[in-house]
Order: sequence, then C-alpha cells, then structure tokens
Amino acid sequence: MKTWGGRFEGQPDPAAADFTRSLEIDVELALDDIAGSIAHVRGLGRAGLLTDPEVEALVGGLEGLRADVEDGSLEWDPALEDVHMNLEFALEARVGPVARKLHTGRSRNDQVSTGLRLWLRRTVDSLDDAAVGLERALVGLAARHPDAVMPGHTHVQPAQPVLFAHHLLAYVEMLERDRGRVADARRRANVSPLGSGAIAGAGFPLDRETTAAELGFESGTRNSIDASGDRDFVVETLAAVALGMVHLSRLAEELVWWSNPRFGFVRLADAHSTGSSMLPNKRNPDVAELVRGRTADVIGRLTATLAMLKGLPLGYQRDLQEDKAPLFAATRTLRASLDVLTGVMESLVVDEARLQAAAAEGYLTAVALADALVERGIAFRSAHHVVGRLVRVAEGRGVGLAALEGAEYAAALAESDDPAAAKLASDPELGAFLRAAATVDGALARCDVIGGTAPRRVQAELAAAAERLGI
Ligand code: ARG
Repeated sequence: MKTWGGRFEGQPDPAAADFTRSLEIDVELALDDIAGSIAHVRGLGRAGLLTDPEVEALVGGLEGLRADVEDGSLEWDPALEDVHMNLEFALEARVGPVARKLHTGRSRNDQVSTGLRLWLRRTVDSLDDAAVGLERALVGLAARHPDAVMPGHTHVQPAQPVLFAHHLLAYVEMLERDRGRVADARRRANVSPLGSGAIAGAGFPLDRETTAAELGFESGTRNSIDASGDRDFVVETLAAVALGMVHLSRLAEELVWWSNPRFGFVRLADAHSTGSSMLPNKRNPDVAELVRGRTADVIGRLTATLAMLKGLPLGYQRDLQEDKAPLFAATRTLRASLDVLTGVMESLVVDEARLQAAAAEGYLTAVALADALVERGIAFRSAHHVVGRLVRVAEGRGVGLAALEGAEYAAALAESDDPAAAKLASDPELGAFLRAAATVDGALARCDVIGGTAPRRVQAELAAAAERLGI
C-alpha cells in the first residue's frame, strides 16, 4: 500500500513503479532524513500537535531506526519508492500508529530538500578535510625539496627557471580557492526548508526558526515556493566540485609528463604505479590518468544538473529527484581523487638533478639577462633584441647564455641602435656582470616580488602555508 494510495483504485504498473523509484540512490540520505524527522517531531510537539509521550515515542523510534541504519540491519523495501517512505513505514512497524502523525505539516518536498542539505553539509566537510590532506602533501613535498629548480613552461615550451616548491605551491593556491568555493556553497545551502510544506507553507503554526537552529541551520528559508523547487545549492556545490576536479586533472597531467623517462623529473612509488598486461617494461601512471579521465564525468554531472533545472516551472517537479545521483557521484569522485593524489604526492620520488639539468637548457635565463641590461639604462625592447642575438650566438655554439665570452656580449650590444647599449659594450666589467645575471640562481633571485619565485619569497610562502595547515 502506497502512503498516497487513497486516491487510486488500481495497482501501480510495475514498470512505472521501477521507473519512479529512487531508493537505490537516496538511501544515502537515511541518517539525514532521520535527523530532519526528529527535529520535525520536536517542532510538532512545541506547536501542540503532538503530546509529550507522542514526541517521546516518535523520537525514540527514530533513534532506533538510526541505530538500525548504522549497523545495516534496517531492511529496505523497494516497493516503497524512496528512503523517506521506507523510513516512515519502518517507524510505524516500530512504534505503531503514532507514526502516522510524523508527516503532519510536512511534504516530501521540504523533507527531501532538508535531508539533502544536511547530507551536503557533512559531505563537504569531509571534502574539505581531504583537500587539506592534499595541500599538506604538496607542502610536505615542497619542503623536502626547497632548493630544487625546474623549468617553468608556457605554451609547453621552456620559459623561465622556477623553484619546484613554487610550482607545487601553485596547486596549494588552487586548492585553497576550491575550499573557499565549497565553503561558500555550503553557507548558502545551510538554511532550513522545513515548514515550507508542498509549496504553500505548512498549515500549522510551526516555529520554523527553532527547528532550523536545532538542525544547525543558519535560518529558515524565506519563500516556500522557492524552497520546494530550489536546487541552487546542488549546482553551486557541483560547480565547485567540478572546478576542483579540473585542478586535479592539471596536476594529474603534469604527473603523467613528469614521470615520462624523457622528462624523468619524478617517479611514482610502486604502490601508485601500474604495469602492463603485455609489456613487461611498463610503469604506468594510471592513477593520474584516471583522475584526469574522471574529471570528464564530473563536468558532465554539473552540466546534467543545470540542464535538468533549465526551464523547470517553480515548485517541486519530479525532475528534481535527478539531482542526487550527480551530486553523490561527483563528490565521491572528488573525494577519492583527493585521497589518491595525497598518497601519490606523499610518496613521490623527485630527481632534483634532472630538474636542475632541464632548467639549464632552453635559455631560460634570457629575460633575466634582458632585465639586467635594463638596469644599465637600456630600453627593454632594445634589451630584448640584444638578448635575442645572444641566444642565437649561444645556440650556434651549443652553450648556455652564461657561458658566452665578454666579447660576444659586447658585439651584440654594439649592434644595437640603443645609445646606452653602445656605451655598455665598452664596459670592462660587462662579461662578469652579464654572466652572473644569466645563471639560473641569478634569474631566480631577480623574481623578488610578492608571488615571485625568488627563493626568499618561496620560503616565506612555504612557511606561511605550513603554518596555516598546521604542519
Ligand atoms: N524521491 C523523491 C525525490 O527525491 C521524493 C519526492 C517526491 N515528491 C513528490 N511530491 N512526489 O525528489
């Protein structure tokens, strides 16, 4: 017998019942639904709709159900459509007819939204813990290699030397923004729809604010029509989760490249590497590839939810039932990806010598050299041109910019139409000055601005991150 069966004569068509059932998915809300019901029962008591013994019986019964859910002994009946109907029936089996008063002044519409918000709160709290875990792993790795230098790339071409720690801290910045976005979504989700009823508001004088406070919500929602059909909080969370996955996919992509022997920057621990069924030599970064690959699914979940909401009339529509599968799946994927990458970063083996060698290739210090010429009064555009000539000379000789002769620097300057360049060409200290500027250390030291890769700046950021993360 359906709870809503009174109006109907015929039995539900089995295919239609299968089609509408959400139990397999929303069973995940069981504990949240029970928490919402307990608060609702207390509210009914305060409003004089239940006697004290009735409140006690219902709360006791719901607490019993909670224990059954927790130890896995509650038997779910697929014929009962969803988790909410199951729990209401299980309550009646437990405490008798008084359970029929539970749904007073409540609709599944405000009930589902309440449960989902409670679920979201505890889930995003655990996501935050996982994000902190990965940040700690990144900071720990950076702290183990504070002086390691690597090539910074733009257009996937070598650009400038940067500290490896600086590169890792870039991900810490992204994760901090992700945490902020999720926290922001959580804050707006943290209001109570209970008392909104089906669409018009409960038909009893429920003290909604006290119930909201009992459930840890900031306040009650302000409009029952909006509350019953609002899933903005699902979209906001999914958007933050999807962007978080996009960030992890970028880290994953770098791990794939860096672990390629031609780069040889890092080696994933055995525990985080996979072999090939055919090629005995293979050592594959499948974990990183799957983080990258599963990001596609999470982006799809956000898109699906937006599309589900688009053009939906106000009030509850059954379409809204489709919000849970994407939210549950996407948060699970993010959580698992954060956890697995934490393990990868904690055990990552870094080859500092390979990083250093790569930073010495590709004329990465060219702009540092141009900047040094600017310090001697040469206009940047002229300096850019002069250094471009020097790169050509160095390339022709197969050496780095810091290995050029004083005469070679002077010749390139003398070619310039910048009057300051001609003057500098005859400076006897020129060779020593420019060679120092063209070293990797010289180039790093120049980037001494807030957010720059100069070692003292990176050390300060690393210390600040470690302090913030309690490590
Ligand atoms: N399982 C449904 C959901 O998650 C329950 C809501 C049904 N509400 C209704 N008015 N038929 O959305």
